[in-house]
Amino acid sequence: MAEPDIQIREYRDGDEAQIVNLLELIFEGWPDFDISGSSLDHWMWKHKDNPYGKSIIATGRMKEEIISCLHYIPIRIKIGSKVVTTGNGTDAAVHKDYRRMGIYSKMRSLLYNVMLNENMYSTCSLDSVPILIQNAERRFPRLPSDVRIFKYIKNPSRYFQSKDRSPLKNLTYNIGYRSLNIFQRLSKRQYSTKEPGNMKLEFSRKFDSSFTDFWKEISDHYEFILIRDMSFMNWRLQDERAGKYIIIQAKENDKLVGYSVLRINRFEPSKLDGYIVDLLAIPHRDDILHELILKSKMFFDNNGVNSVNAMCNKGNFKEKILISHGFVDSRTELRVSLNLFETKKQHEVDFLNDVTQEKIDYQYLNLDWV
Ligand SMILES: CC(C)(COP(=O)(O)OP(=O)(O)OC[C@H]1O[C@@H](n2cnc3c(N)ncnc32)[C@H](O)[C@@H]1OP(=O)(O)O)[C@@H](O)C(=O)NCCC(=O)NCCS
Repeated sequence: MAEPDIQIREYRDGDEAQIVNLLELIFEGWPDFDISGSSLDHWMWKHKDNPYGKSIIATGRMKEEIISCLHYIPIRIKIGSKVVTTGNGTDAAVHKDYRRMGIYSKMRSLLYNVMLNENMYSTCSLDSVPILIQNAERRFPRLPSDVRIFKYIKNPSRYFQSKDRSPLKNLTYNIGYRSLNIFQRLSKRQYSTKEPGNMKLEFSRKFDSSFTDFWKEISDHYEFILIRDMSFMNWRLQDERAGKYIIIQAKENDKLVGYSVLRINRFEPSKLDGYIVDLLAIPHRDDILHELILKSKMFFDNNGVNSVNAMCNKGNFKEKILISHGFVDSRTELRVSLNLFETKKQHEVDFLNDVTQEKIDYQYLNLDWV
């Protein structure tokens, strides 16, 4: 059979409606979150209005029909003392009639050249789909960090009641989760907190100017961390086309000393999922993280959320605090690639192999889909 005549090219104005239709088809609804506006508004927010620049996008076309797409969102990362612009690969879709023909790989090669020409430093993408994890494993260096999703389930019996599984399987999962929870709590050193002292926790919808001082104070502590400046935070968390986020700010004498950013996914109203999208505190203040997690869990509980997800790298101090609050490593396979466009610069990031995981931060905020 002759190879179909598919043209791979960069995005052009006017492609967006077809791209969104394709994403909705492939992901059976896109984004997989409740949003107040249309999917097209969400796409425009995500891929056109980022303060660091528009997404780098490829499409595959069969005659005039878009049958594939791939996006790289520019984000900034502090690596050592450098701040670099990297591409976060996302919203990859190939129509099922055209898979396994190398279309995704061709789109990726095209965009790598575009990003190289735009002087971007690297890609920094998380893969969660097994075939793409294996593909990346064969080709790209990984961030030397084991990034995991930690899950807290308030009522496991209710959570493991899926009609898609047999009652016996549901019971096995339920018992498995409970045993893992007990085992992990026992095997990790328990964390004891100081009294909160004069710390106050406040709910808010946005950060005030104290955020900039907070960020300056903490960013030097990290060797690898997503840049959080006001322009990025406003775009990521305050634009209603993105979805609704809740911020809990921890303050001492009016000074911001930590925060958590929360989101509830109401896409399936019968199964609300909670996310701790971002969680940071000034260095060596585990007590602040402890209070923020406690308050975040209370918020989710008050809103009828039974399961809460948080993302962090294993060995980071947040891991043991999450576990002490009943979070369990979900063991979902994830891989973060850190792939430099100029391989001769690889030595600039090799030092990350030797830094402790406390100096590396990777959370849902690094991504675009929560
Ligand atoms: C993931 C997806 C984009 C891959 O597109 P594709 O055009 O079929 O991929 P390619 O043909 O370029 O193959 C890419 C790699 O995946 C491997 N691969 C693709 N489909 C595979 C399959 N069904 N089983 C095993 N390996 C597979 C290929 O062998 C290749 O790896 P290699 O180059 O190391 O040999 C496509 O399957 C898809 O749209 N899936 C649904 C949406 C999705 O999951 N997107 C990713 C998350 S955003």
